[in-house]
Amino acid sequence: MTLRPFTGLLFASVGMAQQLALTPPMGWNSWNKFAEKVDAKVVKEIADAMVSNGMKNAGYVYVNIDDTWQGKRDAEGVLQPNEKFPDMKGLADYIHSKGLKIGIYSSPGPKTCAGFEGSYQHEEQDAKTWAAWGIDYLKYDWCSAKDVYKDDDMPAVYKKMGDALKATGRPIVFSICQYGRHKVSEWGAASGGNLWRTTGDIEDSWKSVATIGFDKQVGLEQYAGPGHWNDPDMLEVGNGRMDAVEYKTHMSLWAMLAAPLLAGNDLRNMQDEDKEILTNRLVIAVDQDKLGKQGYRVSKDGRTEIWMKPLENGDLAVGLFNRDDRDQLMIAKWSDLGLTGKHQVRDVWHDADRGKIKDLFEAEVSSHGVVMILISKKEERK
Ligand code: GLA
Repeated sequence: MTLRPFTGLLFASVGMAQQLALTPPMGWNSWNKFAEKVDAKVVKEIADAMVSNGMKNAGYVYVNIDDTWQGKRDAEGVLQPNEKFPDMKGLADYIHSKGLKIGIYSSPGPKTCAGFEGSYQHEEQDAKTWAAWGIDYLKYDWCSAKDVYKDDDMPAVYKKMGDALKATGRPIVFSICQYGRHKVSEWGAASGGNLWRTTGDIEDSWKSVATIGFDKQVGLEQYAGPGHWNDPDMLEVGNGRMDAVEYKTHMSLWAMLAAPLLAGNDLRNMQDEDKEILTNRLVIAVDQDKLGKQGYRVSKDGRTEIWMKPLENGDLAVGLFNRDDRDQLMIAKWSDLGLTGKHQVRDVWHDADRGKIKDLFEAEVSSHGVVMILISKKEERK
């Protein structure tokens, strides 16, 4: 009997933590496009753009400031923003008034990767400061923590901030960033992480997207689920160094991986093509599917790969990916997908029915391209 109130409380707090990031977080982050050139004006304009250009409607909600916002600590040790961000509370209020949420960035080390003030020995104080400003998301980046901790300390170091964020009582998504070292997928969730980077930094190149997205995610699917996600890094769609075929592959692969979708481009002036890629309704639905299963590779033949992702309604999302430098005819066999008989197939990017199909799906896939399909679980009789 005496244990009851305690057990109840325990469940209440676990329940609260689980409310966050039940599907992979969606939003924007300043780093890929702006790096140190981000300031409050840019952030406000990005928030305005998200509302007016359909990104918010498509599900993007977090507006995340990455490195270089930090100033000095005051006499009491309270971290201040620098001159680029004169009023953080005001900025958070502005973002919230748009129906969006705001994210910020720090390091467990004394300095961030760009050399600004980190949270070392100020973890609880900083968490309280951010909660008071109205921050909804923290990316916590290892950087100079390597000078004061060992890799073995990582789970505890991240848990310290995870606990500090929880103690504020404000729901703050916790994004662990230590480049996928020390088997982070195995302990990220226990340290309070809602997502954790699985690799080094992404670049706006096919090589980077392909290496990170295809090769480095294999086997990590077992660790992802509602509230805790593998993070293959932010999107590069729209940053200009890949073509539309490659950006579609990037977006499709991230959706198959149930990856966080953090746009990394300048949302204030997007090409229509990039906007269409970032806001594709069906692709986003695959990423955001409530079952929260990370997709996995089911077959590989030379430089072509087939990935599948089980969905909540029993349907399957399947990606036929061609990493080759030439177009390829690809075949997804039902037997590799655990299917028998005839199933209705829908082409995701063309939003078009491909009919009831038996045994296998065949498609010509462009070089560096993808054909993404949804296969209905229902077996058709005729
Ligand atoms: C690291 C991270 C990047 C970015 C920069 C900022 O490299 O991995 O995503 O946050 O630091 O300095």
